Amino acid sequence: MHELNIVVDSAKVAFEQAATPAELENAKALFLGKSGCITELMKGLSALGVDQKKSRGAAINQAKQAIELALNERRQKLADAQMQAQLQAEALDVTLPGRKRGQGGLHPVSLTLERIEAIFGSMGFDVAQGPEIESDWFNFTALNTPEDHPARSMHDTFYVEGGSVTAPNLLRTHTSPMQIRYAVQHVKRHRATASAGQVDEVLFSGVMPEIRVIAPGRTYRVDSDATHSPMFHQCEGLWVGENISFKDLKFVFTDFCRTFFESDDLVLRFRPSFFPFTEPSAEIDIQFQRGPLAGRWLEVAGSGQVHPNVIRNMGLEPEKYIGFAFGMGPDRLTMLRYGVNDLRLFFDGDIRFLSQFI
Ligand code: PHE
Repeated sequence: MHELNIVVDSAKVAFEQAATPAELENAKALFLGKSGCITELMKGLSALGVDQKKSRGAAINQAKQAIELALNERRQKLADAQMQAQLQAEALDVTLPGRKRGQGGLHPVSLTLERIEAIFGSMGFDVAQGPEIESDWFNFTALNTPEDHPARSMHDTFYVEGGSVTAPNLLRTHTSPMQIRYAVQHVKRHRATASAGQVDEVLFSGVMPEIRVIAPGRTYRVDSDATHSPMFHQCEGLWVGENISFKDLKFVFTDFCRTFFESDDLVLRFRPSFFPFTEPSAEIDIQFQRGPLAGRWLEVAGSGQVHPNVIRNMGLEPEKYIGFAFGMGPDRLTMLRYGVNDLRLFFDGDIRFLSQFI
């Protein structure tokens, strides 16, 4: 019997030493397998007499059961340990901050465009969009810009294939072509709604609503440095009626700037200038009275009274219709509003820069 105890004890030790389920199964084979100790001991029974066989058999069985018990205990222990390790490894720390899904937002220049549209919208201006690939007619000729104007040179303008010598296609260099496009449509629309005999009356007696529109969008020039990008934004403004003067331009633009920059004491200056499509023309400068830019004159727009030739190209009589136009740079306004000093940051697509505006 002593010998059986030794077998049981050594099985227990072997099981205890098995560190993994696989090792445990190997250890089990040594004792309970086909050629394991217990099997060998059983084989030895055949040589014994009936009585001895009985008691010896019972004892071996007991030993076998003890070994199986130890085996199962060890199996359970190893399984528990494995479960513990797994739980430990996959533990959730509920105090960690959650992983947020990235939140998108509007580009700072888009925010400015929305703001411009809202402010002019509140003053009764329509908002119009037009093509970025323009014809020479809308971009230059209809705007009274002569053949030899420097803006028409290959050097300053991106010409694109598909146009002809007489009507080349180009990437619009400003939003001013929208003055013509919008006005022509406006006039057509109101002509169409008037009855035949009324046409002249509708167009020339003040029945036709005034043209009051802004046209924001992308524009292109061969230019690239910290304050110029080959692609940039402009927003055109146009107000044409029977009695729209520079006084209205001053009022509208002053009101716009003060609202846009939320600064009631902002000062404007209209500096004489030249554009082929306006006469007289003025650059509009603004001056903050407070903040880091206080006291400096900052150019924000070109403007002027719409040239009679342009009025004519809109399909209107210059003797009857008069108005103003302006073209401003939303990129510049965005830089001033947020204190950004390099225009290129807007178009680099660096999320670290852009996410500051969300
Ligand atoms: N189109 C002009 C420019 O790009 C700006 C402008 C628009 C000036 C309307 C006068 C009137 O510089």
